[in-house]
Amino acid sequence: MSYFEEKVVMLLSDVIKELSIEEIREALEIPPDSTLGNFAFPCFRLAKVYRNAPQKISQKLSEELKDNEFFNKIEANGPYLNFFINQEALAKKVISEILKEKENYGRSDMGKGQKILVEFSSTNIAKPFHIGHIRSTVIGNVLRNIYRFLGYDTVAINHLGDYGTQFGMAIAAYKKWGDRETINQNPIREILKLYVKFNEEAEKDEGLTEEARNWFRELENGTEEAVAIWSWIREISLQEFNRVYRMLGIKFDSYAGESFYSDKMQVVLDTMKEKNLLEESEGAMVVDLSEYAMPPAIVQKADGSTIYLTRDLAAAIYRKDHYDFDKNLYVVASQQNLHFRQLFKVLELMGFDWAQDCEHIAFGMISMAEGAMSTRKGRVIFLEDVLNQSIEKTKAIIEERNPNLENKDEVARQVGIGAILFQELFNNRIKDYVFDWEKVLNFEGETGPYVQYTHARACSLLESGKYTPTEINYSLLTAKEEGDLLLSLYQFPQIIVDAMGKKEPFFITRSITDIAKKFNRFYGACPIKTSEEYLKNARLGLVYAAKTVIKIGLSILGIDAPERM
Ligand code: ARG
Repeated sequence: MSYFEEKVVMLLSDVIKELSIEEIREALEIPPDSTLGNFAFPCFRLAKVYRNAPQKISQKLSEELKDNEFFNKIEANGPYLNFFINQEALAKKVISEILKEKENYGRSDMGKGQKILVEFSSTNIAKPFHIGHIRSTVIGNVLRNIYRFLGYDTVAINHLGDYGTQFGMAIAAYKKWGDRETINQNPIREILKLYVKFNEEAEKDEGLTEEARNWFRELENGTEEAVAIWSWIREISLQEFNRVYRMLGIKFDSYAGESFYSDKMQVVLDTMKEKNLLEESEGAMVVDLSEYAMPPAIVQKADGSTIYLTRDLAAAIYRKDHYDFDKNLYVVASQQNLHFRQLFKVLELMGFDWAQDCEHIAFGMISMAEGAMSTRKGRVIFLEDVLNQSIEKTKAIIEERNPNLENKDEVARQVGIGAILFQELFNNRIKDYVFDWEKVLNFEGETGPYVQYTHARACSLLESGKYTPTEINYSLLTAKEEGDLLLSLYQFPQIIVDAMGKKEPFFITRSITDIAKKFNRFYGACPIKTSEEYLKNARLGLVYAAKTVIKIGLSILGIDAPERM
């Protein structure tokens, strides 16, 4: 419960004895428009109790409640009683708290003792780490950061796609046309070539598909040659992926991917058999889910090989045993909705009541203005290339705008990567979006560079104002622009909690964008350098508060906050 909300509840509970504190709290609303106040208490519920019209009641309450140090106006508006926060009290509350907590403002221990697994990225070995993977990678990482900031014990899992029939294909292609040296030099791009060639050839020669299937069988049976080629491919792929993770500043606690479960599936199949869940269907083993309006879940193919779903069943069970999670989150594209519904249902039918603690965090598609990608045809945009391009473009912009900047390369990296992450995190995750260079690198719009630039501007104001936090006279911060900024800073901690509740990183992105905009309005309307000493000091206190909150927000989003740009 937030500070001022609590004050409203206390004031009201003094004059309304007929409702409990809980009831008052629940009834309290936040008006859509702040000119109607910061809180509104609707009096409809009291009409029955007091046998009076709500309009009359709100009027009477407004007369009973006197203005006080927290609210400088408490007024009736029809059936509502509106509360206006006193700007001095707001400034004092927000700025003094940020001065005290610094970069821990908003941090909490609400998650203490709870373990949250966040599975994200989960790229496929031997395949490109392409722009399409950015979504799971980035959204997952931010969710993890949010939980961590709120005191949860988190585990970041990369459920690598390092197993399955496609490896039969990779091995077969390598045996036919591959050269170890060439591949070692440029692993994924070379394997991609092989993969494309394989698909072309397989259209002419059906025997190839059979060959690939045989190699996968060899791999499942643990044949030395198949395993050796597979682990080499896994190794070199991971090296490449890790390069991208390093650029993004992302670390995983576990890389237990699909192959990790290759020896843990038989037990799962046995358990399902024991529970009478399995049925045979054209040689394959399936779980009938018609009762739940879903197609049957195939857990074993006719040729005896296991599949993706079986490995996910084994993975979920292993995770529960190994981590004893409170929540197990899967950050995976919405195309896999059915897969996860089937997975969770089968777990439930197997008798695992923790199935309800598993959740699919879905997101929509990203597309490129250049048109659709196709790994099969080799038409792919590598994420690493996009990041590097963004860094290059940023460097060119810096050369133009601020050629004397120190650490140009480092700043270009921070801003170039930040720009991509920011765009990725700007919308509701379920929404599809088109990747757009114009938008990404704009310094004016609602973009990463804009927010980072605002942060840098605040840093330089603090530096040139020789700001040292001293006694601040909060009563001097009376401008509307100051009040607007203060209110957004005040709301920030609650926004982090809401972002966690809805699992929506964009709440935070929008909040710091809003703070940056309000900061710039404040900066435009309220002179700092030329102000009288006390006023200057109070305004610099607000600059410090805004700068700190922007930095916290960026850091949760996995974005750096350079002090000069
Ligand atoms: N590797 C899969 C893909 O790229 C995503 C894995 C999602 N996670 C899971 N536990 N099934 O499509």
